[in-house]
Amino acid sequence: MGIATINDCRVIEFPKISDPRGSLTFIESTQTVPFEIRRVYYLYDIPGGAERGGHAHKQLFQVIIAIAGSFDIVVDDGREKRLHHLNRSFRGLLLTPMIWREIGNFSSGAVCLVLASEHYSEADYIRSYEEFIHAASTP
Ligand code: TYD
Repeated sequence: MGIATINDCRVIEFPKISDPRGSLTFIESTQTVPFEIRRVYYLYDIPGGAERGGHAHKQLFQVIIAIAGSFDIVVDDGREKRLHHLNRSFRGLLLTPMIWREIGNFSSGAVCLVLASEHYSEADYIRSYEEFIHAASTP
């Protein structure tokens, strides 16, 4: 799939249906999200000042959504970094494989929903930044 780049980590806007009763957003596997969703998890009860992430994945695709509140995600391909501020529940950030991510600056009550292309596998993680930089610079 070529070398990973933060330019592939794009913001996806999901359909939003609003009427006087409120808003509804839906997400369809392989349609609005460019992979089959095999796992969903969420981060909540996040204390002030907490930092999450701090790893990359070898194969996993993810979409990260601020389903409540807001937070920042810094994506890093080993050459360039970009900060995305997520604060709307109808937007998600696509994270492709081999992207180091740091998630922080959580607002109080923030909920971070993650849609993932694979079941959980610790073997898919790169948890050392040094190892990530080495792997990112090796074609
Ligand atoms: P981790 O992915 O390191 O969290 P974050 O990136 O949000 O900081 O996961 C934290 C712990 O939870 C780790 O021990 C692995 C475990 N875990 C699972 O068992 N299943 C899962 O689907 C996920 C995402 C994590």
